[in-house]
Amino acid sequence: MLASAASRAGAAAGARALLASSARAMSSIPLGEARTSEELERRYLMPTYSSNGVRIREGLTFAKGSGSYLIDTEGKRYLDFGAGIAVNALGHSDEAWARVVASQALTLAHSSNLVHTAPPLQLAKRLVELSCFDKAFFCNSGTEANEAALKFARRWALAQDGLTSMPDFACKSSDRKHLDMRCETSRGTCDCWPQAVDRPRATKTRVVAFHGGFHGRTMGSLSVTHKPAIRHQFAPLVPDVTFAKLNDIEDVARAMGPDVAAVIVEPIQGEGGVIPADAGFLRDLRQITTENNALLIADEVQCGMGRAGTLWAHEAAGVEPDMMTLAKPLANGLPIGAVLVKDFVAAAIKPGDHGGTFGGNPLATAVGLHVLERIADPAFLADVRDKGAHMLNLLSQWTTSSTHTVKQLRRPPTDALWAGLELHGPVAGVVQAALDKGVLFITAGPNTVRLSPPLTISKDEISHGMGVLKECVIGGAGAKL
Ligand SMILES: Cc1ncc(COP(=O)(O)O)c(C=O)c1O
Repeated sequence: MLASAASRAGAAAGARALLASSARAMSSIPLGEARTSEELERRYLMPTYSSNGVRIREGLTFAKGSGSYLIDTEGKRYLDFGAGIAVNALGHSDEAWARVVASQALTLAHSSNLVHTAPPLQLAKRLVELSCFDKAFFCNSGTEANEAALKFARRWALAQDGLTSMPDFACKSSDRKHLDMRCETSRGTCDCWPQAVDRPRATKTRVVAFHGGFHGRTMGSLSVTHKPAIRHQFAPLVPDVTFAKLNDIEDVARAMGPDVAAVIVEPIQGEGGVIPADAGFLRDLRQITTENNALLIADEVQCGMGRAGTLWAHEAAGVEPDMMTLAKPLANGLPIGAVLVKDFVAAAIKPGDHGGTFGGNPLATAVGLHVLERIADPAFLADVRDKGAHMLNLLSQWTTSSTHTVKQLRRPPTDALWAGLELHGPVAGVVQAALDKGVLFITAGPNTVRLSPPLTISKDEISHGMGVLKECVIGGAGAKL
């Protein structure tokens, strides 16, 4: 016993020494002497994006954006096929967008959710008019939108058990320390308070999510995110999550049960590498969730708002989810997130159940309204599909005959400015070779080039970018079989 305590203490001391030495290495540049982006990152930023301060390429720092281009500090232009990870749908520094940002910032940027301002109400109205949902909740990011959706699902599940009001929080006896739900105190002074309050009350607490799915990095959203590499360091996560195989309804059926509150699915997986859920699978999901009295949550943080060629990605399957989460392109680069819900879900939510300081502020929502009106325009969406067909046509001309290098070209079911080009090996070399030629591609996993340009990109720009991609892949920057 004593020996194992001593060895644990020894291991802890070793780990502390290791961390201290890597902290010294990171902070070896004296305060005020860091100059390059890499040095500044190593000295002042948490190392969450890079271990050595290098992002994509040493010495590359972007200073400006204009339309489909990013411009570095040396003035070199890069055609942007990543659009800030599917965020800058209207491109960079769009003038009409910038005018809305400036005019709302000069009018009223933030006031708190204690009072009314017009922009969140107008954005909620338009989101509802343009979707199958009835109510909106605003927050600041995709992960926050999914956190909110998961909480709304828990609250709705509680209502399924008839538990719509708070329990009696008056402690019945000051010396009772057992886990009796009635023995609670709102002041938290009773010893049995934390256990009693935190004990699950609903019968339905489980969430079914999917292999390859990505829903964010905060604890709740991370719990339903599949990727082992980003979740295992943070266990224990929120419990009661079961992962099923995408496009395998039998596997979902095995995962379902009366304790399932919700199924969360990306109609087209983004971080997974542009992997669509089949239309038939989405329709079966709708049916199986209804049969099991569970909610269907569509995470459209990446695939929504025109990225899939339609305003909402679930449209193509003709299904109506019970909730949908949005973020990335909704304000074209300003932080915003939204959850859209059906009325029967909203009916279970009470004031105080959820909220936030910034969510729905007039700046983000006025800009969101501008972006939504432009993307929802049928002519805009038709243009996205037309340009998407052009991009996909150019790609398939050579990818189908390059099976020695290209493993798979993945794309949404509708023509769209979105695709995942999976090679047989790492694509880092392709990204670097394309950068040399002035085109920025991003990845989705080590072997997939993700094409997600601004939705405003021109056909000529697409042709140029696809030419560069072909040269870089065929020219040997992509690993071969
Ligand atoms: C489908 C999906 N959901 C949620 C998120 C998380 O969004 P955020 O990074 O804004 O928290 C992402 C981000 O990539 C996403 O692609």
